[in-house]
Amino acid sequence: MSEKATPDDITIQKAVKVLSDGGIVAVPTETVYGLAANAADATAVARIFEAKGRPSFNPLICHVASMGMADRYVQSSPLAKRLMEAFWPGPLSLVLPLRPDADLASAVTAGLDTLAVRMPASPLMLELIQATNNALAAPSANASGKISPTTAGDVANSLGERVDMVLDGGPCSVGLESTIVGVDYDAITLLRPGSVTAQMIYERCGIMPSENASTDITAPGQLLSHYAPDAAVTLNVSKRVADSFHIGFGNCQSDYNLSPTADLNEAARKLFNALHAANASGKPITVSPIPETGVGVAVNDRLSRAAADRTAS
Ligand code: TXA
Ligand code: MG
Repeated sequence: MSEKATPDDITIQKAVKVLSDGGIVAVPTETVYGLAANAADATAVARIFEAKGRPSFNPLICHVASMGMADRYVQSSPLAKRLMEAFWPGPLSLVLPLRPDADLASAVTAGLDTLAVRMPASPLMLELIQATNNALAAPSANASGKISPTTAGDVANSLGERVDMVLDGGPCSVGLESTIVGVDYDAITLLRPGSVTAQMIYERCGIMPSENASTDITAPGQLLSHYAPDAAVTLNVSKRVADSFHIGFGNCQSDYNLSPTADLNEAARKLFNALHAANASGKPITVSPIPETGVGVAVNDRLSRAAADRTAS
């Protein structure tokens, strides 16, 4: 992977202007590239849904530059504030009650009375939010249901001319989308695993997040088939098979090794890149077993969705 690119000030100012003028900009965050619009601008937010081919019932995450800014949009319990203090800026999104007076386009929440908020760690993204002086609504910058983008090139391949501008910040350092939790007064529900693990939340807040027991599809990231490559994906295959593209983990023969030293953080960072490469090969895809510990839980979550029966959702 190439070194981190840093856009110059003129490029950043151009992105600020595009956002202020109601445009949509693909931006690097520490997790994946996002497709950003001013969250108060209904026309710009509608363009995000159109560019991604995203169903209108799927709400967007709002990105804020501080806890104070989050207060303009959501009602935070003391537990929610503790989570923000522990993990922000960083890859944790909190689903919280929406403030009735929040200055937001209604499509952002898809009609729900909750809003997902997060403060990203990427300095560039924080600069854009501050300059816009509004939350930026940003889903991952890929066509709906397809593999998430971790480089500017992935965005261009997936969305092409449908975005007004792509800010290239180099490859994303985390590589998997944020952990999403629902927060009640004294309970936390894990809605999407990520690099902030349930164990890390327990260690910092003394509350172990529970699994999402609801069968409602409140968040289409929870739709079973997602991150779908074109070819079939078979998981837990230990050895490379002829005529397939093998995504390896640890010391093994493979076409793309997620981490020869079996480092789960490295595997998380490279996962979507591996799926893009496997997809480009046109061959059936096989994947080594990945340990279900730490961030491996989130890696396996994305892999099981990539492998899911496409007719099932
Ligand atoms: O790391 C990330 O979270 C990236 C970067 C760009 O910030 N964003 C991202 O957005 O992954 P997206 O739209 O691809 O995934 C957001 C997920 C979706 O599954 C959506 O349904 C869920 O968050 N979501 C958003 N608002 C929600 C809400 N109020 N309640 C439950 N789920 C919500
Ligand atoms: Mg996504």
